[in-house]
Amino acid sequence: MGAWLGVALLLAVAGCGGGGGQSTELGDPATLGQRTFAQWCAPCHGVEGEGNINALEAPALNDAGDSYLLTDAEILDGIVKGGTQEGSGMQPLGEFLTIEQQMASLYFVHTLWSDEQRATHEAAGGHTPPTPVP
Ligand code: HEC
Repeated sequence: MGAWLGVALLLAVAGCGGGGGQSTELGDPATLGQRTFAQWCAPCHGVEGEGNINALEAPALNDAGDSYLLTDAEILDGIVKGGTQEGSGMQPLGEFLTIEQQMASLYFVHTLWSDEQRATHEAAGGHTPPTPVP
């Protein structure tokens, strides 16, 4: 039930990003997001998004950081093209991740924020998916 709502929202976000394509089996976005994050994001941002775990000094993506101030489009762009800043040390992951993995990892970043931060993100125009049951 909750998962279906999440899927619908994720597809809506993908549509806005011009992702297009057929709707595929997304599976559980929380689980896919967790797996994708652990494999592709945690090496720089930490398993819990705590940040600053290596010389690249990737910022915290959890509630200690400011990533909730970015829009989903900016975060997704960063995932695909490599970071949100000019000359970023973040590796572009667009060619390694499927659209589903990109969306699921974006979704997973939302789960690292506090409720208040999610609300702020939403009020600023971000698409905030419902909090999945852990
Ligand atoms: C090679 C290391 C590396 C990997 C892998 C990586 N990042 Fe990053 N990331 C960085 C660095 C360094 C920055 C800071 C520079 C910038 O914002 O572009 C950053 C910035 C960000 C930001 C902006 C945070 C802010 O507060 O401004 C987001 C969001 C983000 N990364 C998400 C992700 C996600 C999601 C993944 C996995 C799909 C990921 N990153 C994988 C190194 C990495």
